[in-house]
Amino acid sequence: MRILVVGSGGREHALLWKLHRDHPENEYLFTGANAGMETIGRAVDVPPSDVATVAALVASEDVDFTVVGPEVPLAAGLADRLRFDGRAVFGPGADGARLEGSKAFAKRLMAERGVPTARFGVFGDRASAAAFARELGEGCVVKASGLAAGKGAIVCWAWEEVEDALDACFVRREFGAAANEVVVEELLEGEEVSLIALTDGKSLVPFLPSQDHKRALDGDEGPNTGGMGAYAPVSIADEALVECALDEIFRPTLDGLTAEGITFSGVLYAGLMLTADGPQVLEWNVRFGDPECQALLPLLESDLLELLFAATPGGVGLARTRAIWRPGACVTVVAASEGYPGSYATGVPIEIPDELAAESAFGASGVVVFHAGTRREGGRVVTAGGRVLGVTAVGDDLAAARDRAYGALARIDGEGLRWRTDIGWRDLSRGGTTA
Ligand code: AMP
Ligand code: GLY
Repeated sequence: MRILVVGSGGREHALLWKLHRDHPENEYLFTGANAGMETIGRAVDVPPSDVATVAALVASEDVDFTVVGPEVPLAAGLADRLRFDGRAVFGPGADGARLEGSKAFAKRLMAERGVPTARFGVFGDRASAAAFARELGEGCVVKASGLAAGKGAIVCWAWEEVEDALDACFVRREFGAAANEVVVEELLEGEEVSLIALTDGKSLVPFLPSQDHKRALDGDEGPNTGGMGAYAPVSIADEALVECALDEIFRPTLDGLTAEGITFSGVLYAGLMLTADGPQVLEWNVRFGDPECQALLPLLESDLLELLFAATPGGVGLARTRAIWRPGACVTVVAASEGYPGSYATGVPIEIPDELAAESAFGASGVVVFHAGTRREGGRVVTAGGRVLGVTAVGDDLAAARDRAYGALARIDGEGLRWRTDIGWRDLSRGGTTA
C-alpha cells in the first residue's frame, strides 16, 4: 500500500512514525521534507496546500491512502478533490473544515445546538465590535474569524488592549481577510485541555485528553507560540469528563454539522476550558493538535492506519471501534530555535545521538525524537524552523516520562536550542497521572 502524509511538521512526523511502526511493509510519501521523516519514506517537493498539484501527485504515484495533517489544505478543499478523483483520504472536506476556518460559523453552530461556549458576538466593523466588548465588561477575547496560523485570538484584560486588538483586526488589518469577521467573546477562566476524537460522521472515538503549553517560557509566561510541549493523559480530564464532553459537546456539534448537510469525517479537536460550570469550547480544530499528536501517538496501542481508514468514507466506520492505550504517560518537550516565536536563525547544526535517532530507539528506551523544523544538509541535520524537535518519552507515570524526555534532550547537541523546563507542571503539581 502506498500512503501519502500531507505536511512536514512535528505532527506529521508523529503520524508517519506511528503508521510505519504498525505497517513497515507500506510505502510512505510526504509533502516537503524534514530530516526525521526522510528516514521513513520519500519526500516529494509539493506545496501541501496546492490542491491541484497534490491531486496530480496522488494520481501519478497511484497513492492508495492520503492522510492530511494541517488545516490549510483541508480548508482549501484537498479532501474534496481527492474524493472526486476516487481516492481514499482522511480528513474533512472544505465544508467541514469551516468548523476551524470560520470561528463565526463554529460559534453560531454551537449556539444553535446549545454547546457550552463563551457568550459572543460576530462583527464586521470596529464600532459594533467595540460596543459589544464594552457590554461584556471586564476582560474579553477578540478573534479573527478566519485561519490566522494560531495567532488570531487576542486575550484582553484592559480596555486599551481591546482597542488595540480591534485596531489590529479592522485598522491595521494584521490578519488580512481572516478578520473580515471578528468574534468578540467573554473571557473564560479555568484550565485548558485538548480533546481529540475521530469520527466517521456518525460515531466518535475519543483519544486520551492532553494538554498543550502555548506560552514560550516556564510558568506559562512570555508570548504565545505554536505549542512548546504537551503531555497525556491529563488527570483532571477523567473518564466522566470525557463522557460529558462527548454527550454535551462533540455529539451535538456533529449533529449540527449533519443538519447543515455536512458529512464530517476526520478529527474533531476541541480546545476546552474547564470552568467552574463545566467544560466549555474555546475553539474547534479539524485536524490533530501539534504538539498534542506527538504526545498521544506513542501511547496508542491500536493500529492507527486501521482507525484512520475506518473513519474514512468507504471504510468500515467507527461504530464498533475504540482506541486502546498503553498504561502510563507521555511527554513531548519542544526544542525551539533561540528567538522563537520572534525571528531566529536557521541552518544551525544539531546532533542527535544514533541511539536516540534510530527507528528502534523507542522500543528500547521509550524515547522518540520527532522532527519539525529540520533538514539534512551535507550529511548533517540542521535547523530549518522555529520549532525544531519534539523530544518525546513514555513512562510508567508522568514524572518518569518527563524525566526521560528531559534526559534525552540533554544528550542532543544544538547551539541555540531552547525549551521549557516545566512541561507537565500542572499535573505534576497534582501528583502525576497514569492512564
Ligand atoms: P483559539 O484560537 O480560539 O483557541 O484561542 C487561542 C487561545 O486563546 C486559547 O488556547 C486560550 O488560551 C485563549 N482563549 C481563547 N478564547 C478564550 C476565552 N473565551 N477565554 C479565555 N481564553 C481564551
Ligand atoms: N496545539 C494547538 C493546535 O494544534 O492548534
